[in-house]
Amino acid sequence: MKTEELQSNAHLEIIPTSGALGAELHGVNLAEPLPPQTAKAIRDALAEHGVIFFRDQEITPEQHIAFAETLAPVNINRFFKLVPGYAQIAEVRKEPEQDKNIGGAWHTDHSYDQFPALGSILLAREVPPRGGDTLFSSMWLAYDALSAGLKQMLEGLRAVHSSRHVFGIQARRQRDMGDRLVNAEQATQDVVHPVVIRHPESGRKILYVNRTFTTHFEGWTAEESKPLLEQLYAHGSRPEFHTRFQWRKGSIAIWDNRSTWHLAVNDYHGERRLMHRITLEGTPIAGVH
Ligand code: SIN
Repeated sequence: MKTEELQSNAHLEIIPTSGALGAELHGVNLAEPLPPQTAKAIRDALAEHGVIFFRDQEITPEQHIAFAETLAPVNINRFFKLVPGYAQIAEVRKEPEQDKNIGGAWHTDHSYDQFPALGSILLAREVPPRGGDTLFSSMWLAYDALSAGLKQMLEGLRAVHSSRHVFGIQARRQRDMGDRLVNAEQATQDVVHPVVIRHPESGRKILYVNRTFTTHFEGWTAEESKPLLEQLYAHGSRPEFHTRFQWRKGSIAIWDNRSTWHLAVNDYHGERRLMHRITLEGTPIAGVH
């Protein structure tokens, strides 16, 4: 690595994007190798702000992968169509003739895995002329805003998360996803996680259920779980926990999957939107007791 390349990446400016979560990071060129102190500053900003954004990063797939590997090991996505020639990069795509988008309901990626992904790095390759923003919601603020009584009850609960009803064979028959999703027969696993987790880096308490992948509380039926889960989903989607990102070609968002939800707004029918996503491997998550 050349000294001038390292030095050119040394001035990071961090500008919060809302009163809740999110920050734009300026002064870094992700096409170049990152000095260790910059890589650490990026990881720290991610833990602190929950989601971080970069602008005007016209990087190649190789540079996207190299940047991801400076943050954490890369997870190979099982269910998304991969970018030809790059097993590490999943396509998040909607064609002009398609109605449904990927990620159009509040969720956190990979909560159905035993070790949920640490985060995702989404790079905008093609964006519609307007629309196609992504919303993010802070699950530490959502937890903090609950009553003491409900916090206490939730801290004793665990919830089941599954990929079956989203990526499985039955789900695929019902949803118009075309060639965008693959390996439906591999969507068979369920996993149990605490409903309130302790964030491994920030130490914050996080509300860890989401509308897309959580099916029910452990030991409760789905019917019994539904009213409380619906209340938590309504609570977690309150606008004061949000930031909203308007994409341009070359924009990048990196979100922390443990501490945030996200939702891709599907308001650009008749236009193409193509994003490249690299998912970062997670570590075991733990409850708060
Ligand atoms: C996703 O849910 O991973 C995709 C988000 C987006 O396309 O904005």
